[in-house]
Amino acid sequence: MNFKVIGTGSYVPDNVVTNDDLSKLVDTNDEWISKRVGIKERRISQTDTTLDMGTKASFAALENAGLKGTDIDLIVTATISGDTACPSTACMIQNRIGADCMAFDVSAACAGFLFAVETAMGYICRGKAKRVLIVCAERMSKLLDWTDRGTCVIFGDGAAAAVLEATEEGLYESVFNVKGGDDVLKIPATNGSSPFYQLESESPYLFMNGQETFKFAVNSITHDIAAVLENAGIAKENIAHVVPHQANKRIIDFAQKKTGIDLDKWYVNIDRYGNVSGASIPIALDEMNRSGVLKKGDKILLAAFGGGLASGALVFEW
Ligand code: UT7
Repeated sequence: MNFKVIGTGSYVPDNVVTNDDLSKLVDTNDEWISKRVGIKERRISQTDTTLDMGTKASFAALENAGLKGTDIDLIVTATISGDTACPSTACMIQNRIGADCMAFDVSAACAGFLFAVETAMGYICRGKAKRVLIVCAERMSKLLDWTDRGTCVIFGDGAAAAVLEATEEGLYESVFNVKGGDDVLKIPATNGSSPFYQLESESPYLFMNGQETFKFAVNSITHDIAAVLENAGIAKENIAHVVPHQANKRIIDFAQKKTGIDLDKWYVNIDRYGNVSGASIPIALDEMNRSGVLKKGDKILLAAFGGGLASGALVFEW
C-alpha cells in the first residue's frame, strides 16, 4: 500500500522581515546572512497563531484536493510551537475544519513532515485511514531569543498541509535516524511556577550550537539520501525532484555535491522564508505543486534533519 498526494496548501504571514530589518535589532547584516545562510527575508507572525496558520494551510489543501473536512480519516500535525499543550494542534484543526476523525500531533522539529508521513503510512497500510491530512505549522518567532543574532536571523513562521490518499500504485520508501540528546539543539518547555520545585532557571528560548547542528545536518542528509535510494532500489538519475529541509543554503549545496544529484533537481526557497522547521518541506511541495513543476509519476525525494536530533529521508511518487 502507498499513497498519492491529492492536495497541498500553505500559508505564511503577510509580515515580511528582511535582513536589513534584523540589522536594526541585532548586530548583523544582509551580507553575513545571505552568504552564511542564504536567507534574504522571512515571514514573522504579528497576529497569526500556530493554529491559525495550520488551519489556513489545511483549508487550502482541502480545497486543492476538492474535499471537505468530513472526508478526512486522520489528521497528523507536526509542530514544536503549538499554542497549547492540550488540546493538541491537530485536535483544534479537526475542530476548525469540521472534521470528525482521529487527530494527534507528532514532535520531530524540522523533520516533522517526514515523521508525520511515516506515521500516516502506518494507518494507511493497516487500512485504518484512506485520506490523511498532514499539517505542519510553526510559529518559530515565539521560541526565539530576539537578542541572539546566532539564531533569530535563521527562522521564520508559516504552515503547510498535504492530503494523502491511499493507493495500490506508486512507491514509498523511508529511512529515519534519531540521535537523542539536548546538548546541540534544545527548546525548553515551561517549568511552571510550582513553589516546590528546586530547579535552576534556564533560558526559555531556543538554544542551538550552530556548528554542531551543521555537522549533524550534512552527515545525516548525505547518509539518509544514499540509504533511502539504496533501500528503494532507485538510481539517483531517476529522481525528478529533491526537496531538502531549508536550514542553510550551504548545507543544501554540500548535500548536492556529495550525493551527485543534479543541481537543477533541488528545490530551494530558503531565501524567501528562512527555516520554517517542519513546515519548510511542505511549503516547498505546495509551491512546486501550484507552479505545475510536478508531473504524474515523478519520483520525489525529501530529506530533513533537526532537533532531536532526528533526521530522515523518503521517496514517493507524485
Ligand atoms: O533546522 C534545524 C537545523 N539547523 C541547522 O541545520 C543549522 C545549522 N547551522 C548553521 O546553519 C550555521 O552554523 C549558522 C548559520 C547557525 C551559523 O553559521 P556559522 O558559519 O556556523 O557561524 P558561527 O556560529 O561559526 O559564527 C561565525 C562568526 C562568529 O563571529 P566570530 O566569533 O568569528 O567573530 C559569530 O559571532 O559569525 C558571527 N555571527 C554573526 N555575524 C553576523 C553569528 N551570527 C551572526 C549574524 N550576523 N547573524
